[in-house]
Amino acid sequence: MQQILITGGAGYIGSHTAVALVNAGYEPIIVDNFSNSNQDVLAGLEKILGKKVKHYEGDCNDREFMHGVFKENSLKGVIHFAASKAVGESTQIPLTYYSNNINSLIVLLETMKTFGVKDIVFSSSCTVYGQPDELPVKESTPRKDAESPYGNTKKICEDILTDHVKSGAAARVVALRYFNPIGAHPSSLIGELPLGVPANLVPFVTQTGAGIREKITVFGDDYDTPDGTCIRDYIHVMDLADAHVKSIQYLENQQDTFFDLFNVGTGNGNSVMEVVKVFEKVSGKTLNYEIGPRRSGDIEKVWANTDKVSKVLGWTPQFGLEEALRDAWNWQVSLEK
Ligand code: NAD
Ligand code: WQD
Repeated sequence: MQQILITGGAGYIGSHTAVALVNAGYEPIIVDNFSNSNQDVLAGLEKILGKKVKHYEGDCNDREFMHGVFKENSLKGVIHFAASKAVGESTQIPLTYYSNNINSLIVLLETMKTFGVKDIVFSSSCTVYGQPDELPVKESTPRKDAESPYGNTKKICEDILTDHVKSGAAARVVALRYFNPIGAHPSSLIGELPLGVPANLVPFVTQTGAGIREKITVFGDDYDTPDGTCIRDYIHVMDLADAHVKSIQYLENQQDTFFDLFNVGTGNGNSVMEVVKVFEKVSGKTLNYEIGPRRSGDIEKVWANTDKVSKVLGWTPQFGLEEALRDAWNWQVSLEK
């Protein structure tokens, strides 16, 4: 069985990708420092998979630790999720974000080179597009100046990867630009675990539905969109997980020095109010919401052109907004039990 290292594998997207990898016949190996996750996810994975997933607690910036992980295993490839991801926090502690997100990639690429591991799938983000001039946004659409230090780390990491490949290094790289991942594994045994008050829409919605938050504020209804609220491309985390498996398989057939990147979204845009309404439908709850002012730095509307990912990787999403919100809600309910 081929081994795939998942850095940040105890986190939200990494844990779902571990499931998808096992289902596709790979052995995932998790590395995580549990800075934004906890050990419970490993128990959830064991229940879903009926077996333990090999894991190491440690920091991807720790070269010696990473060498130990590579030495002990015969890795076929790496999926690099580990990063700090809170946009607001990144404006408060930018150096921590630059250090964690950029340094960990460099240590990883150097370790891969030392051990002759070529394949890497990198977690990028639609944040690199800012407010694009054309919609739906294509991979070839120019990137904009980053809105936050977090967003800038994603741009810089993409540049590091392209420069590494341009140098002729024996590296095969896929960068995936995720749109807005939501939902949870349908078993409700793993899901998103935001620390403190959620910054993202869907966890805030589900926590409000569960009565943990009194109400949700819709950040602005005066945008240039059909109902005035912002539009995003919400993608089920299991579909996103699958795109990583397809990327790993795609890399297996490429020449030694290779870079490609893909949008991973559904191709559909939904407004904040549509999310609220669909949530009410799938949960049977009436959501207590109010319209508030715009949130500074918000993008008005963005959704993906998915032609490339569907043509080249043969990937198409299996779930829609209803299923994603249903699974997000079931996960929230399971946390209360
Ligand atoms: P997450 O915080 O749930 O998972 C990241 C995991 O990495 C956490 O378990 C954390 O403990 C771990 N980690 C962080 N720094 C580490 C380090 N130095 N060494 C070892 N482990 C470390 O985040 P997520 O939502 O699963 O996101 C995964 C990746 O996808 C991140 O790179 C993120 O920037 C990117 N991304 C996320 C979204 C989103 O909306 N969730 C969108 C676009 C891109
Ligand atoms: C979605 C919509 C809000 C909360 C962020 C990062 C981005 C990417 C994904 C990683 C927006 C509205 C939200 C609330 C609201 N992450 N909203 N009330 O802004 O697309 O992107 O996560 O790369 O980099 O910036 O996602 O979930 O925060 O917001 O009205 O309480 O919901 O204004 O329109 P966003 P989000």
